Amino acid sequence: MCGIVGYVGKARCVEVLMEGLRNLEYRGYDSAGLALQLGGRIETIKRPGRLDNLAEALEERNGHLSAAHTGVGHTRWATHGRPSEANAHPQLGNGGSVAVVHNGIIENFAELKEELKERGVTFSSETDTEVIAHLLAQRVEAGEPLREALASALRRLRGSFAVAAVSAKEPGKVVAARKQSPLVVGQGAGENYLASAVQALLKQTRRFLVVENGEIVELTGSSVGIFTLDGESVERESFEVEWEAEAIELGGYEDYMLKEIHDQPSALRNTLSGRVDSGGAVDLPEVDLAGVERIAVVGCGTAYHAGLLGKEAIERLARIPVEVAVSSEYRYAHLVGDEKTLVVAISQSGETTDTLAAIEAARAFGGRILAVTNTQGSLITREADAVLLTKAGPEIGVAATKTFLAQIAALYLLALGLARAKGATPEEELRELGRDLRRAPEKVEETLGLLEGRVEEAASLFEEARCALFLGRGSSYPVALEGALKLKEISYLPAEGYPAGEMKHGPIALVDEHSPVVAVLGQGLTREKSLSNVEETVARGASVISVARENDSAARRMSRVVLPVPEAPGILDPFVSSVPLQLLAYRVAKGRALDVDKPRNLAKSVTVE
Ligand code: F6R
Repeated sequence: MCGIVGYVGKARCVEVLMEGLRNLEYRGYDSAGLALQLGGRIETIKRPGRLDNLAEALEERNGHLSAAHTGVGHTRWATHGRPSEANAHPQLGNGGSVAVVHNGIIENFAELKEELKERGVTFSSETDTEVIAHLLAQRVEAGEPLREALASALRRLRGSFAVAAVSAKEPGKVVAARKQSPLVVGQGAGENYLASAVQALLKQTRRFLVVENGEIVELTGSSVGIFTLDGESVERESFEVEWEAEAIELGGYEDYMLKEIHDQPSALRNTLSGRVDSGGAVDLPEVDLAGVERIAVVGCGTAYHAGLLGKEAIERLARIPVEVAVSSEYRYAHLVGDEKTLVVAISQSGETTDTLAAIEAARAFGGRILAVTNTQGSLITREADAVLLTKAGPEIGVAATKTFLAQIAALYLLALGLARAKGATPEEELRELGRDLRRAPEKVEETLGLLEGRVEEAASLFEEARCALFLGRGSSYPVALEGALKLKEISYLPAEGYPAGEMKHGPIALVDEHSPVVAVLGQGLTREKSLSNVEETVARGASVISVARENDSAARRMSRVVLPVPEAPGILDPFVSSVPLQLLAYRVAKGRALDVDKPRNLAKSVTVE
């Protein structure tokens, strides 16, 4: 949460920082600001609200700031202090001799603030960040070079942070550091950059360096130095990211979410490519599948829902017991496991604090860690023993869509690989499933085609709704949970995902004509059992929307609207059934004139506990 950027080099500092913030706005959009070195001074410009407000303020300055060569920028998800100009970053120390941007939380800020106040420092914000700015300024005023001053200030801090700072005394230089929160350095020619995530800088460079916990970076236009807190220089290999700059363009779509829903066939193609051959044989050289006797899957939100689908597939095919837990619970649970336990940590961003903490907790019992992530070079890739990369490309919309489907694909590959290593399912059956899985991109494409123009009618049933119920059984249950999450996070309508058979034990009391029921029917026995459960809601006045095969006459009879999915092998059910629910949430939110890419109170990358 919160995005930071830094730049040193040429007279396009404002342009690079604003472009970086635009690409990091998914991390928080409560306020935004820049600090720029100009004529031996630091100029700041900040605005509450969206980045557009800052862009307008910059325009009003008539290019006055465009001569800057060095600066830092920030987009905020408020933790300490409400969204306001005073609480926006950059925060200044000592009347503006240094400026600091920060992502994370300083846990001991209250005691540091008291101490600084006693020494006569006046505070102008409610942020925890301002203590860093004052600590840094005091060291700089005492004559320490900026990098050493930052190291001294950091020694006083508890918590998680990525910080970047500039000083009026050291033109052409940005310093930065991280502990737990993410930070990468981008390398250019005669200019260098830093950011919370690589996508901030894809238009500038694809060559990056990671910064490890406890390291300090010093950037000038011609050099990048990485140091320990004690000032020792550290060697670091750079890496090249696979993502193209065009991947973060809207490409003619109205919103990123809609674009990303339509990107799903190619996200799946890329994730499956090279991992399952035309004969259906799965090859995952990145993961050691031997000797796994127990599995724990951890993740948050959408990643947790993908984990539930992974459990079903692994237990069915590999016959290995799987526990699935929400990371924030797992990290404090009384964990059972040993070195034969594989811990699968799922995180699109690779940055989620709770999931990283769950990994740390699993380390304590000797678990082997496999990260399933979409982000090369992210924190989770450095904490895990092995990485299974989903190759969905950058996801900008705050609501996860294409990365969900890519996570399911990765977990199904894992299930097939484990089943083979265990010899738990006949080889020919596994190959057939592998061949089926290869058809996921094509079937999702077909689903998108079938749904063209069909979702609006279903969305219209939500106009008077006060809540919604999403029902499913078997592998349709996690799909229902995900459908409910999508609806609530972007349309702000209360929605519950529930196992269809469990309705009569309580939630059926919610059913009336203002609570649409969305039934994810699936195939076979699951479908039959769900049909009867959903009939019970119809009898109580529910308007039902079914996700079902087009020729499913029982579904048609029972439903106000059927969102059709194509005939597909059973393993593909979660893929095809998720798409109508994503589009339904999208249409309901658009009908309420809401910003689907940046829903209120949320941020895409959750780097606080
Ligand atoms: C929902 C959503 C969140 C994330 C969750 C985990 O649309 O995006 O629920 O799935 O915050 O994020 P990652 O996968 O980055 O760990």
